[in-house]
Amino acid sequence: MKEYRIAVVPGDGVGAEVSTEAERVLLAAARRFGFGAKTEWFDWGCDRYLKDGEMMPADALDTLSRFDAIFLGCIGDANKVPDHISLEMLLGIRKGFDQYVNLRPIRLYPGVDTPLRTATPETVDFAVVRENTEGEYSRLGGIFKQGSPDGFAVQTGIFTHKGMARVMRYAFELARSRRKLAGGPEGKVGKVTSCSKSNALNYSMVYWDQVFEEVAAGYPDVATDKAFVDAITMWFVKNPEWFDVVVASNLFGDIITDLGSMLQGGMGLAAGGNIDPERRYPSMFEPIHGSAPKYTGQRRVNPIASIEAMRMLVEHLGEQAAGDAMGEAVKALLTKGEVRTRDMGGTNTTDEVGQAVAALVTEG
Ligand code: IPM
Ligand code: MN
Repeated sequence: MKEYRIAVVPGDGVGAEVSTEAERVLLAAARRFGFGAKTEWFDWGCDRYLKDGEMMPADALDTLSRFDAIFLGCIGDANKVPDHISLEMLLGIRKGFDQYVNLRPIRLYPGVDTPLRTATPETVDFAVVRENTEGEYSRLGGIFKQGSPDGFAVQTGIFTHKGMARVMRYAFELARSRRKLAGGPEGKVGKVTSCSKSNALNYSMVYWDQVFEEVAAGYPDVATDKAFVDAITMWFVKNPEWFDVVVASNLFGDIITDLGSMLQGGMGLAAGGNIDPERRYPSMFEPIHGSAPKYTGQRRVNPIASIEAMRMLVEHLGEQAAGDAMGEAVKALLTKGEVRTRDMGGTNTTDEVGQAVAALVTEG
């Protein structure tokens, strides 16, 4: 029997509650599909920082590198540690393991309400591929002349040819495999939309556009489109059906996926993967929501985003049938709408939702 080792970093706030449910569904899938899933939990996060002065031990990446994949709950609790310090842990893993793709599927399941009239299960089915290691998140710069009226800050974005080209190639490969346009009139199998801002960012995004053209030339079977990030926020709302795969820089991808989460029913449903497509390092999967410290221990937050992140993890491991079953279980639960947390207008607890999904996975 194949056995996978999975590191679970529940993080802060409600992280432990949602990670428990994701793990429960993982174990149900492993039992049904005949593979082993050995999880190990690590208590890294803000409480550890208060105790030891560090979010995670110095050799954390060494420890994690021995796992097949990582599940991350959610990090940060500004009442304990300033966000720009606590989040270094998340950004450190993304960068340290060169998880250069942040894949965020945006899909609306039947039975899920959204505040947007344009969003239906038919119109909302796309994916954002966010660059995850450089760009605006390069963390280079400084604050100078602190405390003086002449104080200023410099924050440098790094946009390398290699960094842009590799994430764009991933987006094109993904569009090819999704085949959203296959069978359409122009013979294209899918579409990649480049999220740019070259009208204002006259170096970084002009170069981004240029690299996009270069990469696109290698994928004549995939349609391309290009839109500025501000316009993309508008089109996401107005015509979500236009999108198949969107490729965006680190910051732009961050921003548009919060909007994307509303298209799919809210933060309680949005999942993502920090992926090293070359598999040199373990990839890390997480709900994209924060740690909601004020709800800690109340068993009220929605575990679906975490269960969906775990589904992505299982698929990344190559257990497609198990991933499909997890997705079907989530879909069945949401479609029926009987068991749901408060954010979805229900009265169920986090663990009741997790147990219901696990039961559906087990029943098949
Ligand atoms: C996300 C988050 C992080 C990011 C924060 C917490 C640093 O918003 O994963 O989208 O900006 O990448
Ligand atoms: Mn974000």
